[in-house]
Amino acid sequence: MSGTPQVTSADLFQQMKEIEDPEEKKSFGESVNTLKQELAEQLPQESTEDQDKAAFNIAPPSLDQLQMEMGHISPVTATIFHLQELFENLGFSVATGPELEEEKYNFDALNIPDNHPARDVWDTIWVTTEEGQKNLLRTHTSPTQIRYMEQHKPPIRMIVPGKVYRYEATDATHETAFHQVEGLMIDTNTSIATFKGVMQEVFSRLFKQSVDIRLRPSYFPFTEPSFEIDIKFEGDWLEIAGAGMVHPNVLKAGGIEDEAIQGFAFGMGVERLVMLLTGLNDIRYIHSGDLRFAHQFGLKRTK
Ligand code: PHE
Repeated sequence: MSGTPQVTSADLFQQMKEIEDPEEKKSFGESVNTLKQELAEQLPQESTEDQDKAAFNIAPPSLDQLQMEMGHISPVTATIFHLQELFENLGFSVATGPELEEEKYNFDALNIPDNHPARDVWDTIWVTTEEGQKNLLRTHTSPTQIRYMEQHKPPIRMIVPGKVYRYEATDATHETAFHQVEGLMIDTNTSIATFKGVMQEVFSRLFKQSVDIRLRPSYFPFTEPSFEIDIKFEGDWLEIAGAGMVHPNVLKAGGIEDEAIQGFAFGMGVERLVMLLTGLNDIRYIHSGDLRFAHQFGLKRTK
């Protein structure tokens, strides 16, 4: 109706007040009343039922009126998903294992008996049952190697992403809970060259550029020989995983006695990869729950 001058009945009654002659005032008032009645008759009549309905007809808020906080995938999960896809493309399957683990799987079966000094490397959160069984929060994803070998015959190609726990002080590069991706590949002809090739392929795809890989001698009780894997990223060598050829005692603990079977295992820290991929300089932000940190990754809000 824009453009059409609108006159309300209130305007007309106001005009009536300004008329001084009583006769004129009366007849003007009567005309306004008649007009009002005529107009009211022309308007559609609402039944009481309609009026009742209207009283309850409160429009539900539409979705775009709501300020919704959408969740999104954390950079750790996104990196795990990406790694899973890359390893699946190379024929690896993805498995899981328990976070509350038995001492036997976390240590003994991995060639780390009770009195072994290497146990000190993994500061452990022990969870002893009332019956005295020493359980623990797994200090690494390596116990899943044994669990998987118990269930599957070689050839094996598997990875296990998961959370691990360490009883230690936190700082910019250490957290008490973090994620690892474990890998195990065993067959009759799996060599260190195979291992290097797999790592080269996966990390080049993860970092979206051809990366150089370096193996540095190291020590783990469950691999022989053992090494640290470094990758060259933006000119620097960075340590990103522990690895090695699976120790014969570990194969045996997993039920594999065939001497022709050999292969490699590795364990990489996911948070460390996230830090490399994003330039983040303090691991503690990742699980801080600080939304200012979280909002830097993925979709923030619907509007
Ligand atoms: N489990 C080792 C760690 O957490 C990493 C590793 C895995 C090393 C597999 C060798 C083979 O430090």
